[in-house]
Amino acid sequence: MRVSVFGLGYVGSVSAASFAADGHQVVGVDVNPDKVAAVKAGRCPIIEPGLDDLLASGVAEGRLRATTDAAEAVADSEVSLLCVGTPSRRNGSLDLNYLERVASQVGAALRNKSSYHVVVVRSTVLPGTTNERIIPLLEHESGKAYGEGFGVSINPEFLREGTALKDFRKPPLTLVGHNHAADAGGTIALYQSIDAPLVTTSIRVAEMLKYTSNAWHALKVCFANEIGNLCKRLGVDSHEVMDIFCRDETLNLSAYYLKPGFAFGGSCLPKDVRALQYRAKEVDVELPVISQILTSNRLQIQHAFDEVMETGRKKIGLLGFSFKAGSDDLRESPCAILAEALLGKGLSLQIYDKNVSLARLVGANKEYIDQQIPHLSSLLCDSIEQLVQHSEVIIVGNQSAEFADALTRTTPDQIVIDLVRLPIAGSQVNAEYRGLCW
Ligand SMILES: NC(=O)c1ccc[n+]([C@@H]2O[C@H](COP(=O)([O-])OP(=O)(O)OC[C@H]3O[C@@H](n4cnc5c(N)ncnc54)[C@H](O)[C@@H]3O)[C@@H](O)[C@H]2O)c1
Repeated sequence: MRVSVFGLGYVGSVSAASFAADGHQVVGVDVNPDKVAAVKAGRCPIIEPGLDDLLASGVAEGRLRATTDAAEAVADSEVSLLCVGTPSRRNGSLDLNYLERVASQVGAALRNKSSYHVVVVRSTVLPGTTNERIIPLLEHESGKAYGEGFGVSINPEFLREGTALKDFRKPPLTLVGHNHAADAGGTIALYQSIDAPLVTTSIRVAEMLKYTSNAWHALKVCFANEIGNLCKRLGVDSHEVMDIFCRDETLNLSAYYLKPGFAFGGSCLPKDVRALQYRAKEVDVELPVISQILTSNRLQIQHAFDEVMETGRKKIGLLGFSFKAGSDDLRESPCAILAEALLGKGLSLQIYDKNVSLARLVGANKEYIDQQIPHLSSLLCDSIEQLVQHSEVIIVGNQSAEFADALTRTTPDQIVIDLVRLPIAGSQVNAEYRGLCW
């Protein structure tokens, strides 16, 4: 491929030198003449282990050059990667000045180009930025329609400074977001010699993915540090704890618990988070991340409550009462808390949960149901059909297999609020189908 790389900072320099090493013809562009002069002379404009040699050989072998002339670089390439900075403003918002300026320059250069050109956003940008800011700018400056004169894809970078070359060679995945399949081709071709799974998706998902990853990484650091601070105060070896913790790849380091849905509950998670928080307070250790977990969980229940209230309907059916499918345990069940709140607003409520109905008759939870929540247990109905028929709003509170089937028998005048994302297509549900956080 013939590639122009705009911005010769960390991402741009690593990308330019690495693509050149893979046999692509690369031109690096920067507004900073010193950086351009450095690359021209085969010197690396940033400090990154191994990059000096890679860049020098790319220049010496004639596959990498640099310029300050954006128009010339666009004319001489099929694909332009935008790798300029997207720093924070003082208030935390994203400063898009550099990116918009570079998009304008590339757009203006496209005005005089007859062949199809793909612009690849590699800078980190929030969802909506590419579709709402960059594409219109490119159209305006080039005088061409998106999809006719030029295409756009997004290819977020996952490298870490200090190990950037290794990360470039072996990233966790190569992510390409696009609105039209044709625009992904050129970007994908750049990565032919990279050993990583290729994931293609929409532009908006790709944009969000980068922020989701970075927020997760930041959360992991702070979580581990908080556990470490508490361990130290309690005389426990935090590294031994985390080493063993990381060996559990079923629940700890896995996709488990990482699907947006409803709040957690049950007899363990709320109690144990609370106890850890209390112990930390006793020994004067602050756990700002861990101590906000229960607040976040409570807000998710509030969010579900608000969604139901916003419908303005009065006859509510709740599918699922215990804290998860396949259990009759009602202790700290978010469904029970939601049910209390809805009852408190005077709504008419019916609840269906096969396991809890059974427990009411015989199980170990009979006493809890009879003594702690008799007012809720009296709302339990034994027929899912009856609940579906009599409710204006149907809330899905857990993943019981029978719920998906029941939703296919709803009618268009009903509203379904699914808190857990049942494995069912919205088109299979006759009622208006709403997800809590998707
Ligand atoms: N640094 C990282 O480790 C890293 C990792 C992944 C993603 N990112 C993201 O990649 C983007 C770039 O980050 P960076 O750290 O490489 O930035 P950087 O600040 O190191 O480099 C940006 C470069 O763009 C140049 N530039 C600005 N306007 C230009 C224009 N109109 N034309 C040509 N060049 C121009 C600047 O002179 C500078 O050399 C950011 O959105 C960042 O969030 C960074």
